[in-house]
Amino acid sequence: MPMHMQFGRTTLSKFVIEQTRGQHSELGALIIDVAAAVKTIASMVAKGALAGHHGALDTTNIQGEVQKKLDVLTNEAIIHHCEWGGQLAGMASEEMDDPYPIPAQYPLGRYLLIFDPLDGSSNSDVNVSVGTIFSVFARAEAGAAELSDYLRPGSEQLAAGYAIYGPSTMMVLTLGKGTHGFTLDRETGNFILTHPDITVPEDTREFAINTSNERFWEPPVQRYVAECKAGKTGVRGADFNMRWIASMVAEIHRILLRGGIFMYPKDNKDPSKPGRLRLLYEASPMAMLMEQAGGSASTGRGRILDVSPDELHQRVPVIIGSKNEVERVERYHREYADGSDRPFESPLFSERSLYRE
Ligand code: AHG
Ligand code: MN
Ligand code: MN
Repeated sequence: MPMHMQFGRTTLSKFVIEQTRGQHSELGALIIDVAAAVKTIASMVAKGALAGHHGALDTTNIQGEVQKKLDVLTNEAIIHHCEWGGQLAGMASEEMDDPYPIPAQYPLGRYLLIFDPLDGSSNSDVNVSVGTIFSVFARAEAGAAELSDYLRPGSEQLAAGYAIYGPSTMMVLTLGKGTHGFTLDRETGNFILTHPDITVPEDTREFAINTSNERFWEPPVQRYVAECKAGKTGVRGADFNMRWIASMVAEIHRILLRGGIFMYPKDNKDPSKPGRLRLLYEASPMAMLMEQAGGSASTGRGRILDVSPDELHQRVPVIIGSKNEVERVERYHREYADGSDRPFESPLFSERSLYRE
């Protein structure tokens, strides 16, 4: 592209400064710091095995997951890019048991940054797309955050976004006015607005779920997936395609751009965990991005953005993507709860009950 044609392009910095001018200018500065962290992580991840960053550590995070070297390095990258600027009251992350207090040498602000520094880290050693997910809330005023400041429903997020480290690095962002995608131009180091106002198709014929868990799912999800798999021969009357990358960021990115439904539903594999994904730094930010793009995000029993967390690392069932499919899965949950999906089991339909003495 001739150099002069690049001058008119919208950079991420220009976009956030314009969108946050006035009331939330500090928020703009914070997002620009997050973007700097993302560039550092993109370069770290892109070096692959050459950097010696592959492999696991002998530590586990609070969820009992073995930490990878990259989980810890990316966590530190975000902390150090964002702690100094005076916008933050505190940070919390998948990789830290407790919230991170802003060190005393830095000024305090009113924003809370919550993140999953490396999403899909099981893919990081095998050169498959990974990502970073983040969410921003605000306290009423500047000051050191307390735990209760983080325990907010996603509907109170001021901003949410993710970075995807794929063939190209992108940042997808919402500040509550649509969902917008930026592509990293590695020559200039700028994120350029390449996907303004992303709109998710309302219908889809593509679903994403880890079917190795099928026997642990609840009946409404088993019903939905069985119907997709039955394709043209079943009640849906159409063939469906399936994808599973095991990087939520990559699945959500595909769905934002071409439609689809992603599910990590409630299951009974481990009764202490109501779902696999974490509310504050996975489900809530993705739910805001999806809703801002015209899609839906549900637990199966209600809107993800309305879930009020009791704990920092709380898990939640996630059913997210094209609106009409998410609504269908919600309907299957309702029909299961009231029994209308299995009328022949109802006492009204049993012969004996009709003639009950
Ligand atoms: P993380 O790497 O941050 O722990 O998250 C991984 C998540 C999510 O990205 C993905 O959709 C899911 O875990 C994959 O889980 P399975 O390995 O059970 O398929
Ligand atoms: Mn994750
Ligand atoms: Mn992670």
